[in-house]
Amino acid sequence: MKIFLDSADVAAIKKWVQTGLIDGVTTNPSLLLKAGGEPKEHVLEVCKLLPNGLVSVEVTEKEPKAVYAQAKKIASLSDNILVKIPCHADYYQIIAQLVSEGVALNITLVFSLLQAAFMAKLGVAYISPFIGRWDDIDVDGAKLLYEIRAMLDQYDYESKLLAASVRGVRHFHDAVMAGSDAITVPLSVFEKSITHLLTDQGMAKFDADWRALGAKQFP
Ligand code: E4P
Repeated sequence: MKIFLDSADVAAIKKWVQTGLIDGVTTNPSLLLKAGGEPKEHVLEVCKLLPNGLVSVEVTEKEPKAVYAQAKKIASLSDNILVKIPCHADYYQIIAQLVSEGVALNITLVFSLLQAAFMAKLGVAYISPFIGRWDDIDVDGAKLLYEIRAMLDQYDYESKLLAASVRGVRHFHDAVMAGSDAITVPLSVFEKSITHLLTDQGMAKFDADWRALGAKQFP
């Protein structure tokens, strides 16, 4: 199971990479806007932080030909880039072409089992269902992860399931249980998930009791 940070915040990525838990980063235009600065330099900086990881970088062009050209350019920036392309019918042909040319793709904005099945059939590297955006409109997004997992296994497709649009620790938990190959989590969710109140309380109690024991040396 890979864990990606859904962020373009270089300082935070640098900090959390040190935990050894981070396998990559997913960015998108909204996250690059939030981070500020020149997007190409920014992306290259993130790529350098994760030389053995995967960094998803999204296309911004609209016309299929321009998306194709931009995808090739983005892929050439660094060996560890996954090019993000929205799961739109206008792009199916160029997605197939890019796959046949060996470009590693992360197909984004996936909201249905069939979209995922089509992308698996085309042989993309990663498929990103957005579970939080379903929950925003009162539909169980996590259910989609289980369905896509079952479909990928049933047909023995090689595409990987990347749980995206994770809004809280519960989503993170759901994504793990659904057997996601990778999960991208916002910094706030990652930070909350690596601590536990009961662990903190337990440590404080052990510490207090240890001090009460007054041992001079141990062991
Ligand atoms: C994934 O690659 C996207 O960047 C991200 O998960 C979108 O999440 P959001 O729905 O919170 O914007």
